[in-house]
Amino acid sequence: METIRTVAWMKERARAARLEQRIIGLVPTMGALHAGHLALVERAKRECSPVYASIFLNPKQFAANEDLSRYPRPLEADVEKLTAANVDGLFLPEAAEIYPAGFSTYVNVEGLSERLEGRSRAGHFRGVSTVVLKLLEIVQPHFAYFGRKDAQQVRIVQQMVRDLNLDTEIVVCPIVREADGLAMSSRNAYLQGEEREAATVLHRALRAVRSEIAVGVRDSLELQRTMTKVLASEPRARVDYAEIVDGETFEPVARVARRCYAVMAVYLGKTRLIDNMLIEPVGEELRVDV
Ligand code: PAJ
Repeated sequence: METIRTVAWMKERARAARLEQRIIGLVPTMGALHAGHLALVERAKRECSPVYASIFLNPKQFAANEDLSRYPRPLEADVEKLTAANVDGLFLPEAAEIYPAGFSTYVNVEGLSERLEGRSRAGHFRGVSTVVLKLLEIVQPHFAYFGRKDAQQVRIVQQMVRDLNLDTEIVVCPIVREADGLAMSSRNAYLQGEEREAATVLHRALRAVRSEIAVGVRDSLELQRTMTKVLASEPRARVDYAEIVDGETFEPVARVARRCYAVMAVYLGKTRLIDNMLIEPVGEELRVDV
């Protein structure tokens, strides 16, 4: 696997692939790779050649009080995983390569970026949209792969692609979980001692909502109460938000009928975890994908 450190070389590589009529796939990440990331890579490998992965710990999406400085950076292990997955190129730029001195242009998807994650993490999605736009411009992939683990993020990226007429199709991949249901995340490594076991409460809360939907509950407040009750049963958990929201706007909905999400952000000690469940109508039924 080739490691590509400059924008100029990444552009050159991708341009050469395009000239050969090849189908380019891109998997953007911040590193500390786990099976969730690798599932995106595997899907990309099935559908594209070449496949590029990027590892860029984007400072612009971390607020001043957030975990940028302690974010895990196991670069050697990441390179091994991507090599084993037969990724063709790793785009690994330094911060100054992406944001040279004088950098001053940002993109912000309005409305969507202000709710939920955006409300709790000021400026977060502006940082995400800006870096994803840059990555999509640099590589110009036919397909870019994102996880539904970050449902609001992927919705914002899709909106940006539509609004700015980008020539990339965004592919959304399912949430990969640990055996006990905890959604894989680079931040799970922060969980201390009993927090790890307690963290399963997010998935348990989503499963409780799934059970209620299965017996016919459609009222969002009732479903929300169920989520909150399960989350409150875990003394180590502190809820930031737990809501049922519309799948397009991420605004609260009164009833689950259209495509929507149960979304939550929960602190365990200092670690903030997010999780969600997709609820969508299939014929007369509601399909629920945890
Ligand atoms: P990062 O958190 O490293 O995640 C990279 C991609 O992996 C995202 O699309 C995310 O949704 C996906 N992912 C993470 N955990 C997953 C899981 N358990 N199952 C499925 N997919 C999972 O998200 C980012 O980086 C950044 O915001 C980025 C898009 C790279 C922009 O900086």
